[in-house]
Amino acid sequence: MRILSGIQPTGEKHLGNYFGAIRRWVNEQAEADCFYPIVDLHAITVAQEPTELRKSTLSLAALLIASGIDPERATLFVQSHVPEHARLAWVLECMTPYGDLRRMPQYREKSQTHAAFGVALLTYPVLQAADILLYQADAVPVGEDQRQHLELARDLAQRFNNRFGETFTVPRGTYPEVGAKVMDLQDPAMRMSTSSESDLGVVRILDPPEHIRKKIRSAVTDSGREVRRSPDKPGITTLIEILAAASGESAEQIQERYTGSGYGPFKADVADAIVELVTPIQRRYAELRNDQAELTRILARGATKAHAVAAQTLQRVHEAIGFVPP
Ligand code: TRP
Repeated sequence: MRILSGIQPTGEKHLGNYFGAIRRWVNEQAEADCFYPIVDLHAITVAQEPTELRKSTLSLAALLIASGIDPERATLFVQSHVPEHARLAWVLECMTPYGDLRRMPQYREKSQTHAAFGVALLTYPVLQAADILLYQADAVPVGEDQRQHLELARDLAQRFNNRFGETFTVPRGTYPEVGAKVMDLQDPAMRMSTSSESDLGVVRILDPPEHIRKKIRSAVTDSGREVRRSPDKPGITTLIEILAAASGESAEQIQERYTGSGYGPFKADVADAIVELVTPIQRRYAELRNDQAELTRILARGATKAHAVAAQTLQRVHEAIGFVPP
């Protein structure tokens, strides 16, 4: 079984990224042959500061390894190191209906919030399809927000296979269980997100423990004092879900334990559980970030492994569509 998923190098990663993606990726490594690109080609669909982009790409590689991605098991690499991504994207763009892309929710959203943008914002999902199809991925662990992008990748694979003969595995998106979404601590109607209005609402994996405690202490709660999941208690529900995800306990066990105890001790325990989770990650991250040479070696090895698979697929594609071999 082959798995592929990509992550953008921009924005400091938070608990939503950790529970929704990174931790799932780590768990998949034991069972499947995993490919994890850091998608810098996708990142430049909106303007990026070069120094920042370089820094955040290396930081993210260090963070992923510190979080448990094992470069001996999984293939961790930088998308721009493997030229086949852009090359397959071109071929697929030639068979993607314009209307399909214009209707993509993320395009519609971003094209409205950015004053000026390049055409790649429109073709972004085709590049994503290329990421997936190059590696013949069976399954793609992603968030709910990627559902349409996955549908497009499936369509393109099927359309290509029908027209040119069996070439691509048709991938299947795998989504977190309901309730696995991490909500903003200040505005529990919104998902925790890098672009959140309030810094206090977002717990970053690399936040110092004191900041984490402060953010949990100031998380909005509801009047009342019952620690219980319910639609009229979105703040407390968010904290219960974070504690459940961090500790591995069920929400029911948590509710039972805090019966009658009020919000104070509960919040303190939520903060402790997060700090306990991120402290070893932060320690390994600091070590790796200080050894740039090792990080560069790991990414070079990943790119070599990825390239071997990607080049084979692209060659088959070029043959199938009638390009003369070089
Ligand atoms: N678009 C994805 C996101 O914003 C990132 C991504 C790029 C991706 N290529 C991918 C995810 C391939 C899964 C598979 O989260």
